Amino acid sequence: MRTSLSLSLAALSLIGSATAFPHPHQDSETVLSTSSSSSNQEKANAVKEAFQHAWNGYMKYAFPHDELHPVSNGYGDSRNGWGASAVDALSTAIIMGNADAVNTILDHVAKIDYTQTSDQVSLFETTIRYLGGMLSGYDLLTGPASGLVSDDLVDTLLTQSKNLGDVLKFAFDTPSGVPYNGLNITAQGNDGATTNGLAVTGTLVLEWTRLSDLTGDEEYANLSQRAESHLLNPQPSSGEPFSGLVGSHISIANGQFTDGAVSWNGGDDSFYEYLIKMYVYDPKRFEEYKDRWVLAAESTIEHLASHPQTRPDLTFLSSYNNGNYDLSSQHLTCFDGASFLLGGSVLGRQDFIDFGLELVHGCEATYNSTLTQIGPDSWGWDPSRVPSDQKAFYEKAGFYINSGYYVLRPEVIESFYYAYRITGDEVYRDWVWNAFVAINATCRTDSGFAAVSNVNTAGGGSKDNNQESFLFAEVMKYSYLTHAEDAEWQVQAGDQNEFVFNTEAHPMRVKRT
Ligand SMILES: *[C@@H]1O[C@H](CO)[C@@H](O)[C@H](O)[C@H]1NC(C)=O
Ligand SMILES: *[C@@H]1O[C@H](CO)[C@@H](O)[C@H](O)[C@H]1NC(C)=O
Ligand SMILES: *[C@@H]1O[C@H](CO)[C@@H](O)[C@H](O)[C@H]1NC(C)=O
Ligand SMILES: *[C@@H]1O[C@H](CO)[C@@H](O)[C@H](O)[C@H]1NC(C)=O
Repeated sequence: MRTSLSLSLAALSLIGSATAFPHPHQDSETVLSTSSSSSNQEKANAVKEAFQHAWNGYMKYAFPHDELHPVSNGYGDSRNGWGASAVDALSTAIIMGNADAVNTILDHVAKIDYTQTSDQVSLFETTIRYLGGMLSGYDLLTGPASGLVSDDLVDTLLTQSKNLGDVLKFAFDTPSGVPYNGLNITAQGNDGATTNGLAVTGTLVLEWTRLSDLTGDEEYANLSQRAESHLLNPQPSSGEPFSGLVGSHISIANGQFTDGAVSWNGGDDSFYEYLIKMYVYDPKRFEEYKDRWVLAAESTIEHLASHPQTRPDLTFLSSYNNGNYDLSSQHLTCFDGASFLLGGSVLGRQDFIDFGLELVHGCEATYNSTLTQIGPDSWGWDPSRVPSDQKAFYEKAGFYINSGYYVLRPEVIESFYYAYRITGDEVYRDWVWNAFVAINATCRTDSGFAAVSNVNTAGGGSKDNNQESFLFAEVMKYSYLTHAEDAEWQVQAGDQNEFVFNTEAHPMRVKRT
């Protein structure tokens, strides 16, 4: 998942030197290697072991609550108490062939009452985790994983998806059709916001369109596509400072952009991700989305690509606001490599693939420069802002750490996975393995996996008492898929993908009309 948090943009006017980047090593061969398959089988099994460890801890101490507190062996309900970790784990459990976990989750889904919660509901989080998790489970269990469990409860996934869509759809009942994100579902109320964020507005359309395509009721698709139409045709022109790159907030009253702050960071990120994924989902209906993604991708290469002065071989994405560039980035942003690789592969654009690999290499550098071999939550490379105690680190690594937390995020492993699947180059598979081993060594507790406070301290600093549900949905899934056999649900090179992953790593079956 990406989050809706966005950093305030500092008024900076520096941009990294434009030293030519030596081309990353890349196999012209795109056939996936079958060598050392036995050790890949062992690695896939090691990821299954880690999943089972976390699943057992969640079942023992937290189920049917939302998430495990992996240090105290308690639980939390940060996602409305509908069992977020169980629903988010479903598609991973299916792909791993874990019938016991799948049966437990299906029994649970049948019992969820989506009309009841005492907390505010996030339209975005609920869509990507719960709706995405259930729809993906339905697509997998009625498709390539049919027969894993008895059919009895599979239809419940679609019924409950429709129930959830019906609970949430009032959010779009605004003058512009741009939804409120913060909802009071029992009173059909909202948080009173006047704007909605780019990512939370633009990361609904895959799930809501899939819901319509599976149920035959066009309403859900129409609602999400009407909201998206304001993002595809940005008004006023100050909301699109570079072709295809748009601002961060949209007026709920009239659908206009209220700023022109541009980035691929948290708060903006998955809007760009979904533009190209909608085209993968259905190239006939979503050609306009693809055209917008291409514009954004070209502008990103031209305007946002940035190379640290001390490490001109690395590429990161800066952000832009009102004439100023901010030389900082986030773990969340590291989905960017995957997006360029997917778009480049689907559209046959080698320039996008090459740039995607540059971004992948930059994100790898944030991992392999730290003591734990895990990358920080955010970092910068502005030469005028290097903290005095990080000068030596910056000289060597090319960046300094702004937040040293690692909160079990998947984006770096996600982009390594796409790089491996699309180029077939084993180096990216090795990077997934290295990251997985480091996370297992640093974050593991007796009952699961914990966020850690400082990736550049031996042992990761202190453990944070939280295990986000996306540990199951994303970190475990991408780590497993990288080492697992080819399958219909795997990302494929070229334009013949059978599944497309939502931003929470839930694979949806593509719909070609
Ligand atoms: C939703 O609104 C109802 C009625 O005003 C109120 O009692 C309840 O506390 C609200 N729920 C949330 C999560 O704000
Ligand atoms: C959805 O949108 C299409 C195209 O605008 C329209 O023909 C159809 O009636 C709409 N369906 C619903 C249920 O709103
Ligand atoms: C560390 O990251 C850099 C930059 O991507 C890469 O060139 C190098 O191969 C990595 N080192 C290892 C040991 O993976
Ligand atoms: C993960 O950690 C557990 C517990 O320390 C260990 O038994 C297992 O071998 C580790 N897996 C990998 C792949 O390092």
